[in-house]
Amino acid sequence: MNEIQYLAEEINNCRKCSLGCERTNTVPGEGPYSASIVFIGEAPGHNEDLQGKPFVGAAGRLLDGLLSQVGFERQDVFITNILKCRPPNNRDPLPAEIKACTPFLEKQLKKIQPNIIVTLGRFSLSYFFPTLQIGKVRGKLLKWNNQNIYPVYHPAAALRNTKFYDLLKNDFQQMVQFLEEKPVEESPITDNPESIQLSFFDD
Ligand code: URA
Repeated sequence: MNEIQYLAEEINNCRKCSLGCERTNTVPGEGPYSASIVFIGEAPGHNEDLQGKPFVGAAGRLLDGLLSQVGFERQDVFITNILKCRPPNNRDPLPAEIKACTPFLEKQLKKIQPNIIVTLGRFSLSYFFPTLQIGKVRGKLLKWNNQNIYPVYHPAAALRNTKFYDLLKNDFQQMVQFLEEKPVEESPITDNPESIQLSFFDD
């Protein structure tokens, strides 16, 4: 069993919150542990719960399209969520569920050590930066625990409003520029919003 399978098995056996009893499948995440980009959404939805794979519904197709416009395939990146099980009726994740589930995300990030972590939507942004608003920091590069965090809108928002689609498209282009042009910098460990370093993408 390789490391990815081992962690998937751990997630499959998890019953730390009630979602563990309600799910059809766990959705640990998908992609190579050598990926330079990790995308983090909120939680599996109906299709993801049925298939055990992240972002396989309409929002996932939009994500695939955004990736291919900047020269990436889904299999080049690692895609996961804050929660690994679907909340009933797609309700928002509860604080206790986030607390129970995010040690798995931490293990994944520790193994992968990506150059950039792209948070999709407000829930995954607030896991790293509880006080920041997505509308204010999307498309800006932030530092957290010496890692590069790049918040963008959730693809589901772009399904509802083309304004969000245009912003996402723009932010994906900047993400690639960042990967190509900017080396990962050393910086003090912090999750304090006041010490966030904004990138050259600042407006
Ligand atoms: N939305 C998410 O946040 N994650 C998924 O996997 C699918 C939809």
